[in-house]
Amino acid sequence: MSRNRFDPADLTLWPTMRRLLRLWRGEWRLAAFGFVCALAFTGLSLTIPKLIQYVIDDAVVPRDRGKLLPYLALILLVASARFFVNYVRRFATARIGIRVEARMRELLYDAYLRYPRAFYDHHPTGQVLSRATNDLYPIRYFIGWGLVQGAQSAMMIVGAAVILVAVSPPLALASGVAMPFVGLLAYAFARRVHPLSREVQERKGDLTEATGEAVVGMEMVQAFGREDDVQTRFGGHAGSVRDVSVQQADVEARFLPGLIFVPTLAIATVLLVGGRQVARGEMTSGEFALFITLLLQLVWPLEALGWITNVGQRAVASAGRSFAWLEGIPALPEPENPRRLPDGPLDVRFESVHARYPTGGTVLKGVDLAIERGQIVAVCGSTGAGKTTLLNLLPRFYDATEGRVLVGGVDVRDVRLADLRSAVGLVTQRPILFSVPLRENLTAARPDAPWHEVLAACHAAGVSGFAEELPDGYDTLIGERGVNLSGGQRQRVALARALVAGARVLVLDDPMSAVDTQTERLLVDNLRPAVEGKTVLIATQRLSTVEVADRAVVLDGGRIVQDGRPGDLLAGDGLFSKLFGDEVVAA
Ligand code: CTP
Ligand code: MG
Repeated sequence: MSRNRFDPADLTLWPTMRRLLRLWRGEWRLAAFGFVCALAFTGLSLTIPKLIQYVIDDAVVPRDRGKLLPYLALILLVASARFFVNYVRRFATARIGIRVEARMRELLYDAYLRYPRAFYDHHPTGQVLSRATNDLYPIRYFIGWGLVQGAQSAMMIVGAAVILVAVSPPLALASGVAMPFVGLLAYAFARRVHPLSREVQERKGDLTEATGEAVVGMEMVQAFGREDDVQTRFGGHAGSVRDVSVQQADVEARFLPGLIFVPTLAIATVLLVGGRQVARGEMTSGEFALFITLLLQLVWPLEALGWITNVGQRAVASAGRSFAWLEGIPALPEPENPRRLPDGPLDVRFESVHARYPTGGTVLKGVDLAIERGQIVAVCGSTGAGKTTLLNLLPRFYDATEGRVLVGGVDVRDVRLADLRSAVGLVTQRPILFSVPLRENLTAARPDAPWHEVLAACHAAGVSGFAEELPDGYDTLIGERGVNLSGGQRQRVALARALVAGARVLVLDDPMSAVDTQTERLLVDNLRPAVEGKTVLIATQRLSTVEVADRAVVLDGGRIVQDGRPGDLLAGDGLFSKLFGDEVVAA
């Protein structure tokens, strides 16, 4: 697979530009239109000083009033045409930039949906979000404005230089000497101010993140009386936003006056050298005016070039980062020749499975476990033993580093992800509900589920009891904008959701940890008939849950150390009876 051979370090200027321009492909018509407009704009812009030259030499100096009006009309006509061309050009090129940005964003979101879970373990949320939002701004700016504006500026500079040299080579040379400094100054300015404005953005991001964290954790903050701490931290972030903003303002203060001053040097040269030439009759007054207007017209294109060079660098850097993610982070590989899962109930097998997290040690060190179709197996073990790790291998949230995981006799890596995940239903340890009505949460995995099945699942999972008491019953909006469910209620909704999904293998990661023991007993009694014919793995710390299982296995030190009927294991003196013995005494 060529994807894996990709090295983000290869993303230097040209490879990145090539990739960026590839995103342009559908826009060549607009782009061509933009460049034609830029060419027309340049031509018209250069015409105006020329017309001014003629009006002076032909009408003003000879005091020929009759010629003034036609010249004026002509100049107005050219200026209007230039206005129009500029107007439509901006519409066209802005669209290209916005579309390229949108395309890039779509590519990133699409990739985000496919990235394996491990990616999210190791990339801060803020970074993932900003890569698909703020980071794309320079790309839009460069593509939508920079490229065409750059071409226009270059044409303008070349055209003006040709005209100036044709009129008076010595004066062109003398006055032109200062002009490149405008460009250099603009570039130097951009180089200093852009990192600062980026930093202001980042600091604002830190501030937002800190505020968000404090808001989300307000309960803890208030419960432990950490208000002062949070206030100090907030003050620190706010202070650095202020400091960097001041630095940015200082840089602007230092450079912007210079950008106005340098062109006046060129004008001064024209006055000095050109003024003498006019006095000696070597140059007409019109040519003298031509010099001044053309030089003034050159200021912006020169500044723009300096600015664009920098915007281009930033766009390339930001596009490089995005492409590095798009191409450097492989999505969870789909099988090349996918196999189909057999129909009906499915068995599950772990064959000498090892699993390791990139940052930690090996969590599973050779798990062998065969689960028959329709069997309910409790996966036990002390906290951190690797229960969640083991269960997460089934829907391929992570892949085993060694060994195989088989569902229905097929290696999970040989099944299309979509097929695998519709066959394996999951209740995670900390279930997430969406901020939509309860009804939609229940049918999230299977929107077309018949309502009587949903109700049956709700009965089995113990949702019916509280759902009917919610203000709008099953139509009650859940979450931050609606009713906040308790931890145990959330778990029960997640369980019902998994039952509605109709998966043939149910993976329940500590599904009742937040439910009181009495409710748990009721649920457990309801659960057995509800999962009839399904193969079920339940990770749990609770004996009452283990007791519904046909079989319990105990994980310890990365291996399965005990395996048997829960009753038998409890009677023995292994780890199992140590884990659960107390509960029996307590009950
Ligand atoms: N771990 C890790 N990186 C992750 C998840 C887990 O390094 N993204 C480590 C944990 O630090 C732990 C080990 O893997 O030492 C096993 O974690 P887990 O499978 O989640 O343990 P459980 O048995 O599920 O623990 P609990 O009963 O607390 O849920
Ligand atoms: Mg766990």
